[in-house]
Amino acid sequence: MVASRDDIVLECRDLGHWFGSNKVLNGINLQISRGQIVALVGPSGSGKSTLLRAILGTHPPRTGEVLMDGASYRSPHRDRGIVYQRYSLLPFLTAQQNVAFGLKLDQTSLAFRCFQFWEWAKLKTEHMDQAAELLDRVGLSAAKDQYPSELSGGMRQRVAIAQALIMRPKLLLLDEPFGALDEATREDLQVMLLKLYSENVEARAKGEQPPYTILIVTHELNEALYVSDRVLGLSQYHHGGSEGAAIVYDKAAPVYRPHAPKELSDFVAQKEELLKAVFSDEVIQHHSEYVSFWEDREKLTVDA
Ligand SMILES: Nc1ncnc2c1ncn2[C@@H]1O[C@H](COP(=O)(O)OP(=O)(O)O)[C@@H](O)[C@H]1O
Ligand SMILES: [Mg+2]
Repeated sequence: MVASRDDIVLECRDLGHWFGSNKVLNGINLQISRGQIVALVGPSGSGKSTLLRAILGTHPPRTGEVLMDGASYRSPHRDRGIVYQRYSLLPFLTAQQNVAFGLKLDQTSLAFRCFQFWEWAKLKTEHMDQAAELLDRVGLSAAKDQYPSELSGGMRQRVAIAQALIMRPKLLLLDEPFGALDEATREDLQVMLLKLYSENVEARAKGEQPPYTILIVTHELNEALYVSDRVLGLSQYHHGGSEGAAIVYDKAAPVYRPHAPKELSDFVAQKEELLKAVFSDEVIQHHSEYVSFWEDREKLTVDA
């Protein structure tokens, strides 16, 4: 699947952010095209969550701008969803009701639910059907009637992701979503992301818009390289780093099919490159040295 600059969903233009005298982000320029799964890595405290909040719209940047489908914005919208490491589901609702809940809030009012009872009953069935479909997508159809207290951590994160996806966001942000899970569960959830990606590939093949565009923050480099088709590195270690972190790495990552064997040896060279380019405070370089995703893409397109 070739990402194209013709279909940019999200753009950050010269974005900067600081807290008091703590300069966090500086000169962030970024374009994400529809259907990409982009991993964002960087040292702890480099501003990954701050960047995600700016993109979400809850904490707009101090300088520069964020655009979705070409329109600048400074507030949250259902076009952008987020899932955090620990997502609290509503304990008194089943998995399916939790997933349907966002649609209920978005599409109905209390008055509507009280006074147009039959219309609401019909709509509610539609919402529950959609929720069941989403739970199926994230591999959780068997647990749809269970309450959060009956679900494992991995299952709860699947519900949280279904809950975000039911709003059909143009961009889904994931901030260390699997950070609290054990290794085996974590791998199952990574495969779930690969399945979403393969739906994108199928949609493209049919000439349709790929349904999922995801930006995932993770501190696990194998995870970043495995689940994404592109890896971004955010780091304060570059010339001018005292002014804040910048994107110092932007390259394609190997694309896996959901059940293809994962070859960790495939990642070794790129992991080393990431450690050097993004995580090392000794190798201070100009921050464009490893930023070549779009250039590489354009070269590929010309060669093909
Ligand atoms: N609400 C806040 N008020 C003050 N400083 C903050 C706030 N949020 C984050 N920071 C600071 O901004 C920097 C980046 O934080 P963060 O975006 O959470 O980094 P990361 O997610 O990469 O670990 C850190 O120095 C952190 O202390
Ligand atoms: Mg963070």
